[in-house]
Amino acid sequence: MDNFSFYNPTRIVFGKGSIANLPTQLATDQSILMLYGGGSIKKNFIYNDVKAALAGYRVIEFGGVPSNPEYEVCMQAADVVLREKIGFILAVGGGSVIDAAKFIAAVARNPQVEAWDIVSKKAPLRGALPIGVVLTLAATGSEMNNISVISRKSTQEKYAFSSDALYPQFSILDPQTTYTLPVEQIRNGLVDAFIHAGEQYMTFPNRNPLVDRQAEAIFSTLIEIAQDALRTPADYDARAAYMWCATQALNGHLRCGAPQDWATHRIGHELTALYGLAHAESLAPIWISLLRYKLEDKMEKLAQYGRRLWNLKMPDPRALAGQAIDRTEAFFNSIGMPTHLREFGVDAEAAAREIEHRFTERNVVWGENQDITPEVSAEIVRQAV
Ligand code: NZQ
Ligand code: ZN
Repeated sequence: MDNFSFYNPTRIVFGKGSIANLPTQLATDQSILMLYGGGSIKKNFIYNDVKAALAGYRVIEFGGVPSNPEYEVCMQAADVVLREKIGFILAVGGGSVIDAAKFIAAVARNPQVEAWDIVSKKAPLRGALPIGVVLTLAATGSEMNNISVISRKSTQEKYAFSSDALYPQFSILDPQTTYTLPVEQIRNGLVDAFIHAGEQYMTFPNRNPLVDRQAEAIFSTLIEIAQDALRTPADYDARAAYMWCATQALNGHLRCGAPQDWATHRIGHELTALYGLAHAESLAPIWISLLRYKLEDKMEKLAQYGRRLWNLKMPDPRALAGQAIDRTEAFFNSIGMPTHLREFGVDAEAAAREIEHRFTERNVVWGENQDITPEVSAEIVRQAV
């Protein structure tokens, strides 16, 4: 097990009706920016419940944060924060709204840096406005981590940055908020959470049995509840398990002492920036392709996963690892997630060339062994055809 430091100050308030607890979490008498997306919260109970819970506070609303939150829109919100002397940002939405809130919170407290440098150059932050979350879509884990991912359409860029100043103070998780999610968003959330666990597990063995078992618990729970979560929107327990899995998959526990890959996410972000794929759609074909390409290096962990998760019994670890990947691909397909780029209308050869060019220009390599060079990334994209 590697050395590690673990810090996570986000309070989780989980369960039915938990939005009503909002006032008990708001340790502020400051003006609040209520940030939300394209309006889904007005088609269910969420907007009304949040507004009712905020009665008595000075609340300025800012709606219209798009999926893959857009830099320009965030900058408009940052102007509102300064103009209205906002002291707290409440994100009401999924990963996109939460990530936008984190970026806006960073911009507001760091006038010394060029805003885009916070994202593209990971400029160090001197702090950020406090934020809180009402989660409406389980997928990214952003509700309990310090990461934000911001996109810029004009330059077709999408980058993640992180800072301990960005942990939400609290996140309210009511699984009932997910009842109105379209089935594709549930599918995306299941796959994103699965691959978050996978990026931190499918590496090489480093005798870290608790963290291995924690990741396996997330894989097996997601497999167990996936069909119920997809087919029966009001199956509270399936939605609750799904929501808690997604939070746990990227709140820091799975990286404690563990090597990590993250190449799939790096490549996926480029595919979204270039072709507009939803985040999880950009990951599924790439992760499956990467696992096959890196089968030798990842064989022991793949074999362990195959034995424990899929009950595979063949003696040859190579065959076992291959079968484990096939089962994973079949699982994704069974919940409606395509695993080939062509199914999203993406020309894999053109994408491979462009991504190789971008990674070469940025001089970056990825993977737990830092051996996913731009050429290897391109090959993985090519083989995801
Ligand atoms: O915008 P509205 O109208 O609210 O609709 C949203 C949006 O269209 C809709 N939706 C959300 N809650 C709903 C709902 N519709 C009906 N009922 C509800 N309760 O769902 C759509 C997708 O929302 P979005 O927030 O974009 O999805 P997600 O949570 O998957 O977030 C994706 C973003 O997070 C980033 C991704 O790259 C992408 O930009 N990620 C953030 C991470 C992090 N901060 O740790 C890690 C991830 O790996 C990921 O990169
Ligand atoms: Zn992700």
